Amino acid sequence: MKTVVITGSARGLGLEMAKVFKKNNFNVVISDLMADNLESAKKILENIKTTSKVISVNCNVTYKEDIDNLIDITNKTFGNIDIWINNAGVNQSDKAIWELTKEEIDSVIDVDLKGTIVASKLIMEYMIKQGYGQIYNIEGYGSNDAKMLGLSIYGTSKRAITYFTESLAKEVEERNLNIQVGKLSPGIMITDFITNALGNKEKINLPEKTKKVYNILGDYPDIVANFLVNKMIANTKNNVKIDWLPNWKAFIRFATSAFNKRDFFK
Ligand SMILES: NC(=O)c1ccc[n+]([C@@H]2O[C@H](COP(=O)([O-])OP(=O)(O)OC[C@H]3O[C@@H](n4cnc5c(N)ncnc54)[C@H](O)[C@@H]3O)[C@@H](O)[C@H]2O)c1
Repeated sequence: MKTVVITGSARGLGLEMAKVFKKNNFNVVISDLMADNLESAKKILENIKTTSKVISVNCNVTYKEDIDNLIDITNKTFGNIDIWINNAGVNQSDKAIWELTKEEIDSVIDVDLKGTIVASKLIMEYMIKQGYGQIYNIEGYGSNDAKMLGLSIYGTSKRAITYFTESLAKEVEERNLNIQVGKLSPGIMITDFITNALGNKEKINLPEKTKKVYNILGDYPDIVANFLVNKMIANTKNNVKIDWLPNWKAFIRFATSAFNKRDFFK
């Protein structure tokens, strides 16, 4: 039976992807630093009746030992890791660069960028020994070089994630490894992430202009997860980008926005 490990999967996109993998009879390993959410997420997944199993592991991706432990427990429980998704992420507070504290900057870079880099290194070592596997990293605002006040450090991380993931895919190819590395691009999702900075530490008050864009381009994470997971399961290629909201789709959303009655913020 295949096994998937998803970091930051106690809620939001991570949890929704876990549900789709469970429905597809994957053994599912959810992990997060929010222990309470993790337990309720596990119960939700166990209610999806398939023959595969679910385990939850506390893991803060900024600690190498936690990632080592996540790999170790998964291996001891299931014996294999087919897909690893670096999904854990935090948003930044809605401030200009010079208004952020060093701690806030560290927090975003440590989770969003270094967490993904270190976890990729460690799971690569595992998958090389195993002889196969797939690794996916999550893009976000800034990956395509877009810029706006209040998202500069997050955008710096996500731009770097794109570069890093493509570099990892290239190295895998040059070493002829039977491993596929890819990017997941989830567009804009209506999750706690968009209104909470640095985990749940600070509220973000979205300006009306931003809410309008989110109403046009945004989606709930279950819709996005369904799309991404089905593409991952079918994927056999290295260096793919699985893109929920490509430019043509965003264009259609804007062109038809007069008929769009969605309001996620009522
Ligand atoms: N929501 C969006 O519009 C959007 C858009 C593009 C990309 N993304 C990306 O998608 C991913 C998931 O976002 P989401 O919207 O589901 O957010 P979310 O806040 O709902 O979920 C993120 C999860 O990551 C966990 N997490 C945070 N720091 C962690 C750490 N140090 N170690 C382990 N877990 C940690 C949180 O506890 C939370 O459960 C993130 O990488 C985010 O950058 C989100």
